[in-house]
Amino acid sequence: MKFLTSINLLVFVIFIIFLFGWCYGEEDIDVAPMEKTEKEALYSAIQGFVGNGWNGSDLYPDPCGWTPIQGVCCDLFDGLWYVTGLNIGPIHENSLGCTRKTEFRPQLFELKHLKTLSFFNCFISPHKHPVSIPTVNWENFAGSLESLEFRSNPGLIGQIPAIFGSLVKLQSLVFLENGLTGRLPSEIGNLVNLKRLVLSGNKFTGRIPNTFGALNQLLIFDLSRNSLSGPLPLTLGSLTSLLKLDLSNNLLEGKLLSEIGSLENLTLLDLRNNNFSGGLPQSFEQLHSLEEMALYNNPIGGDLMGLDWQKLQKLAILDLSNTGLAGEIPESMTELNGLRFLGLSNNKISSNLPPKLANLPCLSAMYLNGNNLTGELKFSAWFYGKMGRRFGVWNNPNLCYPIGLMPASKAPFGVKPCQPELKLLQQNSETQLGDSNLNQISKFVASLGSSINSIDGFWWVYPLELLMMFKLLYLFL
Ligand SMILES: *[C@@H]1O[C@H](CO)[C@@H](O)[C@H](O)[C@H]1NC(C)=O
Ligand SMILES: *[C@@H]1O[C@H](CO)[C@@H](O)[C@H](O)[C@H]1NC(C)=O
Ligand SMILES: *[C@@H]1O[C@H](CO)[C@@H](O)[C@H](O)[C@H]1NC(C)=O
Ligand SMILES: *[C@@H]1O[C@H](CO)[C@@H](O)[C@H](O)[C@H]1NC(C)=O
Repeated sequence: MKFLTSINLLVFVIFIIFLFGWCYGEEDIDVAPMEKTEKEALYSAIQGFVGNGWNGSDLYPDPCGWTPIQGVCCDLFDGLWYVTGLNIGPIHENSLGCTRKTEFRPQLFELKHLKTLSFFNCFISPHKHPVSIPTVNWENFAGSLESLEFRSNPGLIGQIPAIFGSLVKLQSLVFLENGLTGRLPSEIGNLVNLKRLVLSGNKFTGRIPNTFGALNQLLIFDLSRNSLSGPLPLTLGSLTSLLKLDLSNNLLEGKLLSEIGSLENLTLLDLRNNNFSGGLPQSFEQLHSLEEMALYNNPIGGDLMGLDWQKLQKLAILDLSNTGLAGEIPESMTELNGLRFLGLSNNKISSNLPPKLANLPCLSAMYLNGNNLTGELKFSAWFYGKMGRRFGVWNNPNLCYPIGLMPASKAPFGVKPCQPELKLLQQNSETQLGDSNLNQISKFVASLGSSINSIDGFWWVYPLELLMMFKLLYLFL
């Protein structure tokens, strides 16, 4: 998850750099005409955020021309300059930084060609100077605004105003890590051009509105880290373009919708840390594009047998830890050739581990601790060496590793060695050689083993016993 967050951050930084680069690319050296009203609206709007000490007309007499303002973008409409982008917050050294007493001035809404508006780390004091989003005037931006972003503004409180539903040109609406509360307005469902809707890291409550199903151009849908509750809206399956669905860290409950299986381009499905139940829908096997499935910490229940896992050929990360899963690990999971991480810890999985799991070419971590796996581990010493502690099978009381395969120090952590007599008896019954001499040796050593075992505390006898066995075998073969 950390990995994802840093990717998000990287994308964000690149986006910002791009934005600013673009601003400068558009800049014109000639003094270009700009309406007085537009210029004054810009100065006043900025002053509301950065404070009255900032004298725009003095510092930047030609803001779209030879005295550009960091974070402000302009474009020509009918031969006149207009502001198309306003980015507030300390992104660069000379960016527009906010004052403690930030305010939204009505002049902001007079920038009639504004396409991009963003606030980063601007409203920062939730106790001393909380700010809520104005509930009027946004409709002025209905014909122009394509991107609206608020990131890391803990002092931005209150609800998302319903009037945001009028911003029908929006392609990106981001409220990431602010102090917003209340229900999500169903009017957001009007924003049918949205490609990105990120409302992560606030304190939103209530259900996910059904109307969100109309956002069928959405690529990124992230409502993670809030207090949203109730079931998933049945309309979720209509978001057919989705690449990323992240509803993690909420209080959502009810069934995992089988409609999710119809999201053919989905690469991320993150529903961890919720209260989903009712088993894994079989339709999830149709998620051909899926690279990461994180469902851990949900009382999902059921088992893994219902899905033909090998259909998920893009899957790299599968985490179903602590989901109440019972039953076996299906053979079809051993065909997940892109799998890098498999997390199934703290479930009720029983049975033997399929030895073919070790053949997964990309596997670098596999956690199966806290289950009821039984029998002997059938992987090679090379596999244990490769995986180290990233092969987690501790807390499986009925699991053991074959003695003699490797020194105890290299054995998988928290697993006990198999009882030698058990192993030998098993070999005995499985042997294809039909060599009676060998069988007799086995029986002899096995009985020796059990008699030695009955003496407690003589752990050092095991290696001795093995040595004897090998010597005997050597004699007879
Ligand atoms: C800003 O600067 C201009 C030009 O120097 C000056 O006329 C004006 O009074 C100043 N405004 C404020 C609010 O300081
Ligand atoms: C899935 O992605 C492909 C390739 O980018 C695209 O052609 C297709 O339209 C997408 N499917 C949906 C339902 O958006
Ligand atoms: C989880 O959902 C169940 C119903 O399926 C409910 O009884 C329980 O209280 C919920 N737990 C939490 C923590 O919300
Ligand atoms: C674990 O598996 C063993 C053998 O399959 C079974 O006897 C035992 O009841 C299981 N324990 C639990 C807690 O499910």
